[in-house]
Amino acid sequence: MGERRLRPWREDDVETVWLAFQDPHIQLWNGGGVASRTDALVLLGRRMDWSSGDHASWVLVEPAADEALASVSLHSIDRLQGDAEIGYWTAPAARGRGFAPAAVDAVCRWAFGALPVDRIELCHAVENTASRRVAEKAGFTYEGRLRRSYRYGDGVKHDELLWARLADDPAPG
Ligand SMILES: CC(C)(COP(=O)(O)OP(=O)(O)OC[C@H]1O[C@@H](n2cnc3c(N)ncnc32)[C@H](O)[C@@H]1OP(=O)(O)O)[C@@H](O)C(=O)NCCC(=O)NCCS
Repeated sequence: MGERRLRPWREDDVETVWLAFQDPHIQLWNGGGVASRTDALVLLGRRMDWSSGDHASWVLVEPAADEALASVSLHSIDRLQGDAEIGYWTAPAARGRGFAPAAVDAVCRWAFGALPVDRIELCHAVENTASRRVAEKAGFTYEGRLRRSYRYGDGVKHDELLWARLADDPAPG
């Protein structure tokens, strides 16, 4: 990941979260529900609290300026089944530089080493071709199309593509 670093979210990241959720693509593909700075703080509170053990979240930063570049969350961590799901977004100004695939890859490698998890699933709407590229570049394998499987920020249920990365899959190039 070069100069970049993943760190847990902090309360003073509220402006970052608020600004990110002004972006129409994040509103559409990462869900709405952040209509005010208070909502952003509530979301941040959930991201900061790992105590349930079923999720873990990070922000990718440029260390010199502590500038937030991208968000990555491991959620639905199921220790019995040994699996989890991953979600992400990149700040609009930071897109197209491979930050999301690098952050997703780093979190997968961490999870396979630190958690009793050997399968991580990634889903995105069929229309979200940028997210499809993240899956491909982060070493995930396409497993199928889920029909009308998730209601996104536009209130419409979209078909999704399901991808997974297993602990013993080859690491991305
Ligand atoms: C999907 C997303 C996370 C990709 O993050 P990223 O850090 O830009 O990832 P990459 O740099 O690897 O770019 C992935 C693709 O985005 C597209 N892209 C490139 N530059 C871009 C830009 N400036 N703006 C938007 N998309 C761009 C390209 O299709 C690229 O694929 P390529 O490598 O074949 O050119 C980011 O576009 C985003 O946050 N989108 C809105 C929210 C979202 O879709 N979240 C995921 C929900 S499943």
